[in-house]
Amino acid sequence: METMKAILCKKYGPPEILQISESTKPTPTKHEVLIKIFATSVTNSDIFIRSSKLPLLFMIPMRLFIGLTGPRNPIIGEVFSGKIESIGSEIKRFKPGDKVYGFTGFSLGAYADYKCMKEVDSKRGCLAIMPDNINFEEATSAAYGGLLALQSMEKGEGQNVLIYGASGTTGTFAVQYAKHLGATVTGVCGPSNIDFVKSLGADKVIDYTEPDAVNALETYDFILDAVGTAKTSELKKACKKSLSKSGWYASIDDSALLLESDRLDKITELIEAGRIMPITDRTYPFEQIVEAHRYVETGHKRGNVAITVNTDY
Ligand SMILES: NC(=O)c1ccc[n+]([C@@H]2O[C@H](COP(=O)([O-])OP(=O)(O)OC[C@H]3O[C@@H](n4cnc5c(N)ncnc54)[C@H](OP(=O)(O)O)[C@@H]3O)[C@@H](O)[C@H]2O)c1
Repeated sequence: METMKAILCKKYGPPEILQISESTKPTPTKHEVLIKIFATSVTNSDIFIRSSKLPLLFMIPMRLFIGLTGPRNPIIGEVFSGKIESIGSEIKRFKPGDKVYGFTGFSLGAYADYKCMKEVDSKRGCLAIMPDNINFEEATSAAYGGLLALQSMEKGEGQNVLIYGASGTTGTFAVQYAKHLGATVTGVCGPSNIDFVKSLGADKVIDYTEPDAVNALETYDFILDAVGTAKTSELKKACKKSLSKSGWYASIDDSALLLESDRLDKITELIEAGRIMPITDRTYPFEQIVEAHRYVETGHKRGNVAITVNTDY
């Protein structure tokens, strides 16, 4: 039996609960590909899953899906990038050596050397060929922020757009996507990220910590809450009153994330065309997963936090 290295979360708890361990290397079925993982991310989803710190209304369904006292699959992790190592006999879309990125969904398992995935989309994940002009760490940012941003933004395009939480993984993607669509974009972030959000292309930036931030609001055709319902401010509450008559407000928490490889293909095209650059805040080695979780838990990462899993590309 071949083994691999993996990060295990055997029960819900603080970052220190995570342990590096040996696990069984998976073998693909005829409908699966075996991916050698080069990078993963510490996403907010991983923090929710590891800590299980959620309002009761969300915690109960999450535990039913993921596991009662700890994740059923103790190898957590939801986004990955890597290379196809081998394929099952029924695989049509991929071949060994393809560089792919994607989302593991409810099957988790990205915090490991290897992961088997079906090539068809399901709640257990989706994958696609990754952009050829970014590295593996950047690809994990694109998968998470890209899927979350596009899902909400495809419904709500407009000329004057406000992105609330413009400095996070989804927000940085959303600002660039709105600019690509030709919108005038206002980004909302904290004081340390104003110049950074401008550098992404935002035409205006509002600091949500400023006492008079509400006065800076204009009228918007589309507002995206890119940080989710748990993070709020007086400014966020006021935003909804700044919509135009036909304006549209969306939160990335409005509906479950759709795991769709077609959308990953679209993200690949946008990045390869130079329209969007996924943002990496910090990259940690696999062995520093606890430190990476502690950092993400501060709630102020700038773009994405990646974990390098393997480097023998
Ligand atoms: N629908 C689904 O199925 C689904 C799935 C996965 C995730 N999600 C949602 O997506 C969220 C994760 O998004 P993400 O990882 O892209 O975000 P993120 O990177 O964690 O966002 C970090 C940013 O949040 C900003 N921030 C913190 N508090 C804020 C506040 N009160 N107001 C405005 N900005 C604030 C920080 O900006 P400053 O440092 O500049 O303050 C930081 O740059 C999750 O929290 C979850 O709600 C939804």
